[in-house]
Amino acid sequence: MGDELILGIESSCDETAAAVVAGGRRILSSVVASQVAIHRKYGGVVPELASREHLRQIVPVVREAIEQAGITLPDVSAIAVTRGPGLIGALLVGVTYGKVLSYALGKPLIAVNHLEGHVHAVLLEAHIAGKVPELPAVCLIVSGGHTILYYVKTESASGNGASHFSYARIGGTRDDAAGEAYDKVAKLLALGYPGGPVIDQLATHGDPNKIQFGGPKMKGNPFDFSFSGIKTAVLYHLRRNPQLQPEIESRQAALARGERTAAVLLPLCSKETLDLVASFQHSVVEDLISRTLDAAEQYAVRTVFVSGGVAANSALRKAFEAEGQRRGLQSYFPSRALSTDNAAMIAAAGYPRFVAGERATILLNAEANLPLA
Ligand code: KG4
Ligand code: ZN
Repeated sequence: MGDELILGIESSCDETAAAVVAGGRRILSSVVASQVAIHRKYGGVVPELASREHLRQIVPVVREAIEQAGITLPDVSAIAVTRGPGLIGALLVGVTYGKVLSYALGKPLIAVNHLEGHVHAVLLEAHIAGKVPELPAVCLIVSGGHTILYYVKTESASGNGASHFSYARIGGTRDDAAGEAYDKVAKLLALGYPGGPVIDQLATHGDPNKIQFGGPKMKGNPFDFSFSGIKTAVLYHLRRNPQLQPEIESRQAALARGERTAAVLLPLCSKETLDLVASFQHSVVEDLISRTLDAAEQYAVRTVFVSGGVAANSALRKAFEAEGQRRGLQSYFPSRALSTDNAAMIAAAGYPRFVAGERATILLNAEANLPLA
């Protein structure tokens, strides 16, 4: 294993990202152009708008990643690009540009699964902190598009010292992703988009035990999730409590003026609303933690990874660490910047595949529903 430079390209959802990573571990640059401002007024990602924005951003974002790394394009050893899962039109922009660069530069192209990228975001962060997580691990990937549990293990591949990672799916959401629940609840309560960061901050001002939502009642796999019920429960709570309507309207007015920070929204929230927000978050976090840690115990691992946009949540991090420690498990998270979609994690995930000699051809296609396992 050397210090080869991998250019990562990511465009699966609403972030156009490029990064240069040396030896699969050292981030030389990581540029993310977020489309949040474009999708905000719709309260969710609009696929057609996402594709168009990726088209506008992909060239300058890659150029900036190369410049910030202090290199030129011919210095890269390979290009790693997200092949799926994600929005097909969005993925196609990155895949096509990756293929063009690979062909023009005569450099190998590596196809990467976006979910594998989220696993590698944890490994990148651990490396930065000088830690070596013990594998196998159970990994929770929790974002606006995914809530899924994997068993992750590694084997040293033949001779070249590269690690080969393999994944087995343990469970996943049967309906909404956890981040989607945050975003939908934020929309119902007029707390802006995306909902996660604001709810994260407002929840610290409410009583998390005020409203008992009760976890989802599901038969079958105990490691599956469901978050559509809690969103509906919040909707019914608002219908039963019409006195909360005027403050929703005043927050809507604030959002329309572009005032969307938690500091601005906090004085526009009653104690009842703050309790509702805190109780919603408590219920989601409890559910994520208990199923993940139960899976870790069932699969007899001592390490838990948590990655994806919702992994940025402060309550989730704190509770994972505390509860994990109580159960004798070590929890690892990426930094907030590496939790949400980025291309450094794609370059990192592509590196072992590059070393192992995997190559994608010019026929590579994007796959919206690409499974990891
Ligand atoms: O990974 P990501 O950037 O994009 C994908 O969905 O793939 O995740 C975005 C999601 C959104 O649903 C957002 O509300 C949620 O992550 N999120 C959070 C926090 N920061 C972002 N959810 C809870 N707490 C946060 N601090
Ligand atoms: Zn993601």
